[in-house]
Amino acid sequence: MGWTADNIPDQEGRQVVVTGANSGIGLEATRELARNGATVIMACRSTERGQDAARDIRADIPDADLRPEACDLGDLESIHAFADRLGDADLDVLINNAGVMAIPRSETVDGFETQFGVNHLSHFALTGLLLENLHPHDASESRIVTVSSGIHERGEIDFDDLQHEQSYDPWDAYAQSKLANVLFAYELERRLLTAAANAKSIAVHPGYANTQLQFRGPEQRGSRLRKAAMWAMNTALAQSAAMGALPTLYAATAPEAEGGAYYGPGGFMNMRGTPERQASSKQSYDEETARRLWAVSSELTGVTYDLPEPKAEVSA
Ligand SMILES: NC(=O)c1ccc[n+]([C@@H]2O[C@H](COP(=O)([O-])OP(=O)(O)OC[C@H]3O[C@@H](n4cnc5c(N)ncnc54)[C@H](OP(=O)(O)O)[C@@H]3O)[C@@H](O)[C@H]2O)c1
Repeated sequence: MGWTADNIPDQEGRQVVVTGANSGIGLEATRELARNGATVIMACRSTERGQDAARDIRADIPDADLRPEACDLGDLESIHAFADRLGDADLDVLINNAGVMAIPRSETVDGFETQFGVNHLSHFALTGLLLENLHPHDASESRIVTVSSGIHERGEIDFDDLQHEQSYDPWDAYAQSKLANVLFAYELERRLLTAAANAKSIAVHPGYANTQLQFRGPEQRGSRLRKAAMWAMNTALAQSAAMGALPTLYAATAPEAEGGAYYGPGGFMNMRGTPERQASSKQSYDEETARRLWAVSSELTGVTYDLPEPKAEVSA
């Protein structure tokens, strides 16, 4: 029997931010954190969908302490406004979860290719803006959990065409953004270690979970056939969103979860099952790529971190 939501330690007094908390893995992670006493700040693109999700959870857990907040990750101004509204609130965990997959090419408000912008750049910016809230030099440990995907293994960071302006394949762009998630999580861990901070950066992937993620691409293309095919695949192969949330919950709450690790489901083809530590792709451990991506992300978002150049290492 592996680690399940029943193993979550008491979260009373802990404050967590979850991006994309209104759907799928973010919603289920929020539910279990709230069930165990955490206050969850639900950072959602749509306040209405955030409030609906909070109602859904409260129907199950009446005393859930939930704070839906607007945060559109496709708009740097909205990310700054969200961080400003939090002020100097203490955070114990930040869960960088929101994402979009294999959608037709589009751009965020700031002109970033949407998958790279929403999945990676927004979370780079948000984490930097909330770093002080995560009190990296206090006695109580904090964590930053970044949700990637097994698909990161086929990803490449194309520094010559990061925004896929010259050519666009929706799956390549998704894979690049998910590799960026892991490179970011490890680079952050190296910098936190170098700063002797009491904070851990952890990467996770949910395996294959039945959520709304698979439908966004077909919906935006207006393809009912592809949507039906995705529905059939999800029904036949995917685990529940609640199971998909377990690696995230493990990384966010298990005392033994390690900084710089990558956790995912340990069952059939790593698509289902309970969380275990896994190795990510060879490229994801490449420090030069990680540093270059960090520098470009900082330049594009205008967000800098008060952390030193890394000297520490992260390995599988
Ligand atoms: N499900 C899987 O099998 C699977 C596999 C590998 C990795 N993942 C990863 O798991 C994470 C969660 O995905 P999911 O499966 O739970 O999908 P989901 O049900 O579609 O949820 C995605 C969440 O991200 C939010 N989001 C999208 N664009 C946003 C934006 N511009 N600003 C703020 N929030 C935004 C969505 O908000 P709206 O509801 O407003 O759209 C939604 O709350 C993603 O990072 C995904 O890459 C999932």
